[in-house]
Amino acid sequence: MTLSRKPLKGMRELTPGEKRIEDYVIKRLREAGVAYGFEEYETPVLEPLELFLAKSGSELAVKQSYNFTDKGGRKLIMRPELTPSLARMVAASGELIYPVKWMSFPVCYRYERPQRGRVREFVQFNLDILGVSGLEAELEVFLVLRRIMSSLGASRGQYVIRYSSRKLASGILESCGITEEEMAQAYAVIDKKDKIKPDEWEELVRKTIKDERNADTIIKFASCSDPDVPWLSEAAGGSEAFDEIVRFSGMLKDAGILEAQFDASVVRGLDYYTGIVFEVMDTGGKNRRAICGGGRYDNLVGMFGGQKVTGVGFGLGLLTLDLFLETYDLMPEGISGKHPADIFLAVYSDGERAFAVNFAEKLRDVGISVEIDITGKNLSKQLKIADRKSIGYIVVIGPEEVVSGRITLRNMTSGIETECEVSEVSGILIDRNLCGEAN
Ligand code: HAM
Repeated sequence: MTLSRKPLKGMRELTPGEKRIEDYVIKRLREAGVAYGFEEYETPVLEPLELFLAKSGSELAVKQSYNFTDKGGRKLIMRPELTPSLARMVAASGELIYPVKWMSFPVCYRYERPQRGRVREFVQFNLDILGVSGLEAELEVFLVLRRIMSSLGASRGQYVIRYSSRKLASGILESCGITEEEMAQAYAVIDKKDKIKPDEWEELVRKTIKDERNADTIIKFASCSDPDVPWLSEAAGGSEAFDEIVRFSGMLKDAGILEAQFDASVVRGLDYYTGIVFEVMDTGGKNRRAICGGGRYDNLVGMFGGQKVTGVGFGLGLLTLDLFLETYDLMPEGISGKHPADIFLAVYSDGERAFAVNFAEKLRDVGISVEIDITGKNLSKQLKIADRKSIGYIVVIGPEEVVSGRITLRNMTSGIETECEVSEVSGILIDRNLCGEAN
């Protein structure tokens, strides 16, 4: 039997070129977090199933998860998201300095049907603020999101940060008498609004919510694209949730976050959100999945017992972000082909190997990345390898170089050759800023 050459469906397998693209994006995300003082943390991939059953809701923890019983009879889950683990970690850490501002890059697992923007193993950038109950936390998170998008070259108009409020939605639904059981269905149906055609959506609402007046209310509510629309002020005016969303809209305007747009149909799927919820969407038609989803979760940490700690944050999928960047041609040119080595050291014969190995070590000591030939192939084959790997500079170490201590540094793009002392190479490369990270 021959073994399959493919990984399991929906699992993440990246070639070095694809990994370089991912690393470029991760670097930008990390820089954006650091710019606002966020620190990195880690949690386990494998978690007790009960943690996610209690926190994420059964849709994610049961239907969409990889869960199993281990050899010790424990029911486990491959984390489908990070927030419950973060909440546990915060609940367990007595010595934290609030506000806690943490970020992480977990690999997550969801048993979903793979499709554009949806896979079964994915990296999700998480960024959360804990211990701030005011809207300043939401504002800061929106600022980070805008910085991420602009640092990756996205311009306003290509994406939108859509936001609403779970509190506002639940207030409206409760006021029209929607029962506790219907509530989850109502959220699910609101969430579908932009995913299907308008008439199909209305039909779905009416099919799901049997009471005609309630169905009308949901349709009207989910269609509000400004907190100031008369229907909404009439239905919710004076409530805490309505005042909050109006205040937040004002704060966004004052901060010049023009990419943010109120949209009452944003509810997000997770059970634990309690306040403002948001998502980043591509405004074009090609990517219909949210690039990022998040919101306020004020009860999650307190559910572990002990003190109540409020939270706001988001998860941003690297895959959905990649698709967005590809769509708008925002990936820096040549990034996937950029080899990490600054210089390729070709070795003429075994007689020069010891000299070449020592020379390579000295260059590495000063931060220059060197790939030295280890194949023992003839010189022309070595040079072909260097060329195919697109390494920027080549040096050949032959008997003459060993005797004279002088080498020729060849720039493979321009063809320019620079003769110099062995001791000068690092200085030349560093002066020309030809080594190290390009992005
Ligand atoms: P979420 O809305 O379930 O939120 O996921 C956030 C993002 O993760 C999505 O917008 C998408 O980019 C990415 N994502 C989710 N599922 C998949 C998948 N199957 N394949 C590829 N990418 C996917 C959460 O996970 C919350 N824990 C976020 C959060 C953090 N809320 C507060 N803090």
